[in-house]
Amino acid sequence: MTPQFLLVSFVLAALTLETTFSLQPDQQKVLLVSFDGFRWDYLYKVPTPHFHYIMQSGVHVKQVTNIFITKTYPNHYTLVTGLFAENHGIVANDMFDPILNKSFSLDDMNIYDSEFWEEATPIWVTNQREGHSSGAAMWPGADVKIHNSFPTHYMPYNESMSFEDRVAKIIEWFTSKEPINLGLLYWEEPDDMGHHLGPDSPLMGPVISDIDKKLGYLIQMLKNAKLWNTVNLIITSDHGMTQCSKQRVIELDQYVDKEHYTLIDRSPVAAILPKEGKFDEVYEALAHAHPNLTVYKKEEIPERWHYKYNNRIQPIIAVADEGWYILQNKSDDFLLGNHGYDNALAEMHPIFLAHGPAFRKNFTKEAMNSTDLYPMLCHLLNITAMPHNGSLRNVQDLLNSATPKAIPYTQSTTLLLGSDQPGEYEPEEAYPYFIGLALGSVIVIVFFAVFIKHLIQSQMPALQDLQAEIVQPLLQA
Ligand SMILES: *[C@@H]1O[C@H](CO)[C@@H](O)[C@H](O)[C@H]1NC(C)=O
Ligand SMILES: *[C@@H]1O[C@H](CO)[C@@H](O)[C@H](O)[C@H]1NC(C)=O
Ligand SMILES: *[C@@H]1O[C@H](CO)[C@@H](O)[C@H](O)[C@H]1NC(C)=O
Ligand SMILES: *[C@@H]1O[C@H](CO)[C@@H](O)[C@H](O)[C@H]1NC(C)=O
Ligand SMILES: *[C@@H]1O[C@H](CO)[C@@H](O)[C@H](O)[C@H]1NC(C)=O
Ligand SMILES: *[C@@H]1O[C@H](CO)[C@@H](O)[C@H](O)[C@H]1NC(C)=O
Ligand SMILES: *[C@@H]1O[C@H](CO)[C@@H](O)[C@H](O)[C@H]1NC(C)=O
Ligand SMILES: *[C@@H]1O[C@H](CO)[C@@H](O)[C@H](O)[C@H]1NC(C)=O
Ligand SMILES: [Zn+2]
Repeated sequence: MTPQFLLVSFVLAALTLETTFSLQPDQQKVLLVSFDGFRWDYLYKVPTPHFHYIMQSGVHVKQVTNIFITKTYPNHYTLVTGLFAENHGIVANDMFDPILNKSFSLDDMNIYDSEFWEEATPIWVTNQREGHSSGAAMWPGADVKIHNSFPTHYMPYNESMSFEDRVAKIIEWFTSKEPINLGLLYWEEPDDMGHHLGPDSPLMGPVISDIDKKLGYLIQMLKNAKLWNTVNLIITSDHGMTQCSKQRVIELDQYVDKEHYTLIDRSPVAAILPKEGKFDEVYEALAHAHPNLTVYKKEEIPERWHYKYNNRIQPIIAVADEGWYILQNKSDDFLLGNHGYDNALAEMHPIFLAHGPAFRKNFTKEAMNSTDLYPMLCHLLNITAMPHNGSLRNVQDLLNSATPKAIPYTQSTTLLLGSDQPGEYEPEEAYPYFIGLALGSVIVIVFFAVFIKHLIQSQMPALQDLQAEIVQPLLQA
């Protein structure tokens, strides 16, 4: 064989493989899992062999900056929209919208009013508009009608439904005749016990071990259903947790007359709506009330929180220092663990791990913003992202170069001339076409290597699983 013949056949083979390999529809399946309140460093509190198995066979991001306020509903909506709270409109677990003249409250499960959710479009709606199916097992907001849609498959929220039953639903939807390409799975722990015990309690150890076992169960069920090698599994959370104490309580009744305002949201970010004509009185009374309470007029809220431009953000917010607790009076509920504080605090940060055909293996990244997950999900699902505050470019290094997404030539040329809509289009689409062409040849070679590896692995599935089983007990030690 001549070198020319070799080269030509190599390129042809590689191109054929690239088409078949990169266009495998299975590569675009995503399962997004949230373990509520799983702080980034819980991974190291007790042995978590299943989490470490994912880290070594996939990717791990050490520091994830979530959004302010670091509460459940605002952050879960960010994960599926890529927007800051002021832009997606779910600014707290408890809200009042003065224009709608309506309240939203997680505690009363008074969250089903579509109007609260429709400042944004969650990814399942976009996914379905593009002809795909989605399935959500208790994901916050997924049982609310948003822009006239529910997920293709979902269940009314029921906290009593076991993790195993939720997983069974997800597997059923991924393996049905018209399979979903996007699954969303939510679990209430370790948040509930974190609030109850406080994250510093030694009793949190068994709680975290239990989550690790649940992850192991999920992995096993995905393997049994032959989904493990085709689904891109992303494990994350909404926020962390910090230790509180009765020694660190700020009692609003000590400083300001409770008749002069309505407390819309409580701790650690008190959302204060002064009664008619009482703004100055309430503000002055609180501004220097306590050294561990920072009080902002709405227009003074720091830009870095992206928490200002929304009707549902109240005229005054009072933010407690980490570990401090705001109560109206001492008879209010007090929890030993809480979250909601400044999103710059490490203790507020969640985990992020992923495994699957789209992700690199055994790769650790230092930091990301949680807003960047959304453009990555859209990229994996091959759907067009809605305007958002993230950037795929910031998290692209988590992905294999083999992950498909054709760069449309026409769009690249328009973007070369400049786009005044940052965030709406992905930055990587702005690369000149010829760079793509140059990279193409490199990619072809990578594909060829990956394919051979793939081929070898697929002929030894038993060995691969065996290796996985061997790794786990070692990690447990
Ligand atoms: C991505 O979606 C476009 C249409 O939106 C389609 O033409 C293309 O084939 C899809 N790519 C893959 C890899 O499925
Ligand atoms: C807002 O709703 C309440 C009842 O929930 C009602 O009493 C009040 O009059 C309404 N305010 C306005 C301005 O419509
Ligand atoms: C919630 O789930 C539990 C456990 O599966 C079940 O017994 C109960 O009937 C469910 N409640 C509702 C309202 O569906
Ligand atoms: C609470 O305030 C005191 C006095 O200003 C300060 O020394 C301390 O660091 C604050 N606590 C936190 C957690 O910021
Ligand atoms: C605390 O506030 C609640 C509700 O406003 C009130 O019923 C209770 O009497 C107050 N307790 C004290 C100790 O002031
Ligand atoms: C993962 O990478 C680390 C170093 O980055 C290495 O020590 C370890 O052996 C690798 N693990 C696997 C399973 O490849
Ligand atoms: C997070 O976003 C901010 C503001 O957009 C940016 O400056 C920062 O570099 C991002 N962080 C990471 C780790 O990408
Ligand atoms: C976040 O994204 C929204 C939608 O594109 C945009 O309106 C807003 O200005 C962005 N926020 C920031 C701080 O860039
Ligand atoms: Zn939460």
